[in-house]
Amino acid sequence: SQKELEIYCQSAENAARNAGELIMASLRARQSRPCLAVESKGGVDLVTEVDRLCEKEITQALHAEYPTHAFIGEESTFLSTGELSSSSAPFGLPGESAPTWIIDPIDGTTNFVHGHPFIAVAIGLSIHQDVVLGVIYLPVLNEMYRAWRGGGARCNDGPLLKVSGAQSIHDALLVNNIGSCREEEFLQLSFHRLYALMTAKLPGPLQGLRMSGSACVNLALVAGGRLDAYVEDGVGGVWDVAAGKILVEEAGGVVVGWEGEPWVLRMGRGRVIAGNAALVSDLVARMRDVDGRVWRRKR
Ligand code: IPD
Repeated sequence: SQKELEIYCQSAENAARNAGELIMASLRARQSRPCLAVESKGGVDLVTEVDRLCEKEITQALHAEYPTHAFIGEESTFLSTGELSSSSAPFGLPGESAPTWIIDPIDGTTNFVHGHPFIAVAIGLSIHQDVVLGVIYLPVLNEMYRAWRGGGARCNDGPLLKVSGAQSIHDALLVNNIGSCREEEFLQLSFHRLYALMTAKLPGPLQGLRMSGSACVNLALVAGGRLDAYVEDGVGGVWDVAAGKILVEEAGGVVVGWEGEPWVLRMGRGRVIAGNAALVSDLVARMRDVDGRVWRRKR
């Protein structure tokens, strides 16, 4: 029920805000502590002790309130049995059995490592494999985005959020993240796609392009109508998209896969396009056009 979702949302907000305080404390301490322990999960994909600490705190707080629920985090998977395992362990799909909290303790870890302010804590809840609630907290900006199915999306105590009405790329501020893949073919294709958008004859070139370094920041800003659309090939995992998907949907937008199909919860890297329906379908067609001529990312 709406009341139940509101209570879950309050729990998620509290957990996200506490994680945000840990992040801010770490950013403040950075001046007196020159080096943060940074590990690589492979190549330029980073994780820090603060990611792990935030995930542990969020998971423990929600587990204490909802002991029968399951948890999927970017850095670990915590099952409702109380067992902690690595994300790569076989888990099945989120929300298959118990309601499942999907947690990204720090989205934008590379930004965090550099002290760049585009950092988010994201918590989603999926029931029967459908994301019904999402909270994205931007600690540096102190913006708490929240939405649950049927309840609309809001930022802090502001009015209901609404995605932008931009109908074409020529009116659009688009965000695209390249992520951590450094394969030459992938990079060629990615930059070729952007080149095609920046030089489009019809209806005219893209108005503006950004790379933020955080999928969750992108989705929150799309929900708030402050970015018109977001496109990423190879977005990290369910935790990067789950919370933002419901935010964008409740703000009147859509979040789809590369072919325009509904975005579904699944483990592993994915491809995402988000924004208002008209702009998203235009972007789906443009991505397909370039993909067809060049190279299709293998997955
Ligand atoms: C990454 C960020 C990045 C996106 C990657 C994600 P992380 O998540 O959201 O912007 O391009 O696809 O993996 O590692 O910072 O939590």
